[in-house]
Amino acid sequence: MRSHSLPDSWNLDQILDDLNAHGFAIINQAYPDQYRAQVSQECSHHMDEFREAGIQNGVVSNIRSDHILWINDQLPIAQQHIETLTLFSQSLNQAFYLGIKEVEAHFARYNLGEFYALHRDNPQQKNDRIISTVYYLHPEWQEDWGGQLRLQDKNEKWHIVNPEPNRLVIFQSDLLHEVLISKQQRLSITAWLRSGNSIWV
Ligand code: OGA
Ligand code: MN
Repeated sequence: MRSHSLPDSWNLDQILDDLNAHGFAIINQAYPDQYRAQVSQECSHHMDEFREAGIQNGVVSNIRSDHILWINDQLPIAQQHIETLTLFSQSLNQAFYLGIKEVEAHFARYNLGEFYALHRDNPQQKNDRIISTVYYLHPEWQEDWGGQLRLQDKNEKWHIVNPEPNRLVIFQSDLLHEVLISKQQRLSITAWLRSGNSIWV
């Protein structure tokens, strides 16, 4: 699958409307299921390279207990998702003048009991993340497995989003959100669309 155009399942007008009205949008069956299976397999092949997300530059934080692996060109299947998001960024820039220049992404794995406490990806415009996206790539998710994304929209209304397989959630990086405790292995790609103007690292 090459991403010279957005997947058919992406209703661009609807996505832009939702982002404009609520600050977030959801795309179900974002890719052909074959792509979900391939990227899931690529993720599985690199499981032993994941690192604790709560430890950065030797500093330990207890806000999150998941493990992550940054995506680069050694992960060509996941890279295709980044290409699609790069294309999508052009539409966002045209519609909202967001000035997005870069996409950065990592795989995330939440094992039994793991979570990510309430946070914003870009608190007080401290970094250059403009839009956050999360793509869920596990093959199955049941209602009572937890691991929901709880998100406050731009009108301060709370939403609970189940991490349905092959679902892509897109939201403003300044919105408050959390990942509730997961009872099964939960696999995703988090990607940020960035302005590339960061003075903060
Ligand atoms: C994140 C995040 C939400 C999710 O990685 O910053 O908030 O549903 N992820 O995985
Ligand atoms: Mn987040």
